[in-house]
Amino acid sequence: MSITVTQLRKFKEQGRKFAALTAYDASFARLMDEAGIEVLLVGDSLGMVVQGQESTVPVTMDHMVYHTQLVRRGAAHALVMADMPFLSYATPEQALRNAGRLMQEGGAQMVKLECTSDDVAIVRHLTRHGVPVCVHLGLLPQTVYKLGGYKVQGRGEEAADAMVRDAQAFEQAGADVLLLESIPRSLGATITRSLGIPVIGIGAGPECDGQVLVAYDMLGITPGKRPKFSKDFLAAAGSVPAALAAYAAAVKDGSFPAPEHCFE
Ligand code: KIV
Repeated sequence: MSITVTQLRKFKEQGRKFAALTAYDASFARLMDEAGIEVLLVGDSLGMVVQGQESTVPVTMDHMVYHTQLVRRGAAHALVMADMPFLSYATPEQALRNAGRLMQEGGAQMVKLECTSDDVAIVRHLTRHGVPVCVHLGLLPQTVYKLGGYKVQGRGEEAADAMVRDAQAFEQAGADVLLLESIPRSLGATITRSLGIPVIGIGAGPECDGQVLVAYDMLGITPGKRPKFSKDFLAAAGSVPAALAAYAAAVKDGSFPAPEHCFE
């Protein structure tokens, strides 16, 4: 039986940290599963790290369904979460149709949407129809051409207060999990404390209930400069299974992320 949404909630109540990683195929999914990674995110980052695109924008529903099928075949225990790609959830009806594809054709057990405060009705529509939802706040990579780059979000009192309010509104709308990307550590801690649902962070500090990284970053595969919030676990571990196990252990004992991986 896979990890469930209820178990993730229990982990939060017990103060037990959990680990997530992006996965795009069955072989990596199996290794991650065996390393004790609780959540596998079929991220639309596959557009960049697998397809070699400039951003996540070109990723389509068909790509996401295909990679979700591959990951689901390799995952015996981990919960499989799939990203809804750019412009696949512009209305509640379109979101439900496409979330249905990810779950029914792909085998996803949860879908993730990059959200702003305008998307509460979309999340409510999905959760009312029994779709488990992870709401992604903070840096939203699908909006990179509007943002003009991958920049830390939620800095300053006004932006931070707005993100806390958004997080609470999405919890009220039925979101099962929140994911926070590239925000100050203190804001990650405040949002995590203020919600009953589990919060997964990537560049959001160690106080989040769980952590996620792009697998190719933490295995040292991604070319160029690694994001500040990531760490190459392969360099010291020496093999892929050992790197995955080291990451899982570091998240669970709270030693990752360290202060140098956090934004102030
Ligand atoms: O697509 C992805 O890899 C993601 C992570 C950055 C969380 O959404």
